[in-house]
Parts: sequence; C-alpha cells; structure tokens
Amino acid sequence: MDRIAITGGYRLEGQLPISGAKNAALPLMCASLLTKETLTLSNLPHLADIKTLKLLLEGHGVKTTVENEGVNLSEGQTISFETPDITSTVAPYDIVRKMRASILVLGPLLAREGEATVSLPGGCAIGNRPIDLHLKGFEEMGAKIELEEGYVRAVAPGGRLEGGTVHFPTVSVGATENILMAATLASGETIIDNAAREPEISDLANCLNAMGANISGIGTKTLTVKGVESLHGAQYAVMPDRIEAGSYAVAAAMTRGEVELLGHDLLDVMRGTAGVLKQAGVGFKQTDDGVIVTLERDKIKGVDVSTQPYPGFPTDMQAQLMAMMTICDSASVINETIFENRFMHVPELCRMGADITMHGSTAIVRGVDGLLGAPVMATDLRASMSLVLAGLVADRQTFVNRIYHLDRGYERLVEKLSACGAKIIRDANLGI
Ligand code: UD1
Repeated sequence: MDRIAITGGYRLEGQLPISGAKNAALPLMCASLLTKETLTLSNLPHLADIKTLKLLLEGHGVKTTVENEGVNLSEGQTISFETPDITSTVAPYDIVRKMRASILVLGPLLAREGEATVSLPGGCAIGNRPIDLHLKGFEEMGAKIELEEGYVRAVAPGGRLEGGTVHFPTVSVGATENILMAATLASGETIIDNAAREPEISDLANCLNAMGANISGIGTKTLTVKGVESLHGAQYAVMPDRIEAGSYAVAAAMTRGEVELLGHDLLDVMRGTAGVLKQAGVGFKQTDDGVIVTLERDKIKGVDVSTQPYPGFPTDMQAQLMAMMTICDSASVINETIFENRFMHVPELCRMGADITMHGSTAIVRGVDGLLGAPVMATDLRASMSLVLAGLVADRQTFVNRIYHLDRGYERLVEKLSACGAKIIRDANLGI
C-alpha cells in the first residue's frame, strides 16, 4: 500500500485551487438516473468515490462519456451521463459496501422505475449510520419497503411515488437528497420538512430545476417539490468543495503561511468553518479569484466548538480543527454532535505529542509547543487529513498510512501541497 511522507516545518505559500465538491458531485451524478436525456457535469473532482459511483451507475444502464479529462491542477473533469433505459434496478453489495453514498441511487431508481433494490450500506468507521430516515421518507410517499438478505427492496404501488409531507425528526443530508430526487417525478406536491440546508443540497436542487424539476424553498429547511412527468437533460458545474477549502485554510494557518485558495464563493459556502477559524485568529481576505488565508496572531487561539448541521461548524471539519488546536495557545473543547465514534484521530494525534483527553463525545485539547513526526494511520477520510495537517508542522518526518481514505476525498493532495512549498511525497508500496 502507498503511504504519504511529510517533513514538517515548511511554511505554505502560494495558490491552491479548490476542486469540485465530492459531496455535491455524488448526488448530482445520481440525478442522471432521473432522465432519458444527457446530464453533463463539469468540475467533477478526480477521486476514488467518483470512479466507484460511475461504475455503480453504469451497472444501472447509464452511459458515461468523459468529455474533458481535466488534466491541470485547477481543472475538474467533465463527464456526460445518459440513461435511455434503466437496465437494472439492483445496486449490488460489492459496490455499495465501498461507499455509503451509493444509497442515493435508491430515490432516483424508485422514482423512474417504480422499484429498486439496494444493498444496505452497512456499518462505517464513523459510527452506525443507519438509513431509517431515507426509508421513512419513501414510505411517506407511498412506497412499500422490505428488508431481505441485506438488501432494501422498495416498490411504489402503481409504479409512481405519491407526493406527501415528509418530516425528518433529525436533519440528514443524504435522506434529504434521496427524497428530493424522488419527489421530482412523484405525482402531486411533496413537502420536505426539517430538510438539511447544506450548500450541496442547494446545488442538487438547482441542477434538478435546470433539468425541469419544480423545487422551491431552496436553502431553507422546508423544500416544496411539485412533481413533473419527466425531466430533461442539462449542463451543470459542480460547486467548490468547502471541506477541502477549510482543510487547506487550516494548513495555511498552522504553518503560519499565506495561501490563496482559488474558487468562487468560497467564503460564502465555508462560512461555518470560517467563523470558527476567525475566532482562532485566522484571517480571510477576499480576492478576485478566491480568498487569501493567513494567521493574524503569533499563536493559534484556542476555541470551543460543537459540530452542527449547516450553517454550523461541519462535522467533516472536526478532525482538521482538532489538529489545529493541538498547537493552540491555551485549550479547546471540541464536541461532536453528529456522529458517534468520530474521534479515531485522537490516539494518533497523541502519538505525535498532542495533549488530548476524551470524555464521550467531547475532547479537551490542550495546546502544546510542538508536535513530533511519527508513523500514523487513520480509519476515515477527514481523520487522515488531520494527520497530514499535524505532519506539516511536526518536527522531523510523519508517515501517513492507509491513504486510500485520502484518495476518496482529496484530489491531488500531494501535488497541491507541494506546489505551495510543503515537503510531502507519496511513497509507492511502502505503507502498511
Ligand atoms: C453526509 C456527508 C458526510 C457528512 C454528513 C454530515 C455525503 C456523501 N456525505 O453524510 O460527509 O459527514 O453528511 O454532514 O454528502 N442518520 C440517521 N438515519 C438516517 C440517516 C442519518 O439516524 O437514515 C443520522 C446519522 O447517523 C448521523 C446524522 O443522522 O448521526 C447525520 O447523517 P447524514 O446527514 O445523513 O449524513 P450522510 O448523508 O450520510
């Protein structure tokens, strides 16, 4: 297995292009199942998860054409998706187990074909992650759901889902996206109450409207969807990745560097993260092409934070913020409210000299003067990034193992950081 080797202590300086958002790209690709016509998506990141979903969609009959490979650091890929006929309504275990977001084919398949059978995604390193809210939503739209042999089978009696009111007792990004896609082709009006408001959901809703859907209330917690008979093709550019941008903002601050993150509307989409980073002393300056990030004090200031649904501080930035707090001037209390078991980076950060104690879903991080490089490994994507960030400032070398997690969500990480002066390389076949 490959590993990443980082020699810490180098200040980051330069421009860093922000890729298209993985968490927006995945539902947008699934939306292609809703129409016979061609959906062309640009600014798609080059990531393992995009390849996995492309494979899954091809199994359902989606014909994909790479229109532009996007070979430069600053260029995403453009892929067109055309599904004249759905050739299979079954999403098999072999692919779904690799990526939980595969559950997002359930809504589109059910809406277009009146039935779908999708493997249960199973457990995940960051907690139990059930799909009960997705299934409850489909039932409220008239679907009959059965669980058999590890698969969910959903059938719309009469072949079409019916509009209705879907109320989510807790906010779920994936369930909101699944029901939103399904509702576009349902009969009548669907109201999604207590919908997630993440910008990736607005991106999906805007794309669906460009395909002929009738969605209002975009960006609010109540989405109203008037069902239509069919959707048509469209061209759509994926929004920038606010978690990637936040992660590199942390990298700039921790290394006391000056980095211009390139991308449109970055400060707007990463406002939950930027608000907390500002309290920690990080400065953001809007430019024509993006935003310049610097640390505006001698030392990072300790801040207390709780993860929250958008527009609060995102759980997907919790591990990276914790890496930053390991070298703060005082102490920080970090409370994880979205996922249980999302502190797997803590023992690894401690092996690098961090001072962190955990009490259930709360971590107390006491700032230390410096970290020390070590061989480390993580069990999920964002936790892996927190170890890279720690490695950028640690004395001597840090070796990050199991980097397939990073390949799932950070496009060209080594190239992007190297271009800003980091001493980071990918060692082929040296990892564990
Ligand atoms: C998405 C993101 C992920 C992010 C998360 C929260 C993608 C591909 N992934 O994941 O990066 O960390 O939002 O911002 O966009 N829940 C239930 N029942 C359900 C669904 C969810 O109890 O049916 C719970 C989850 O266990 C979790 C919480 O609701 O505690 C939020 O999960 P959710 O918003 O659904 O996360 P994902 O869509 O899986």
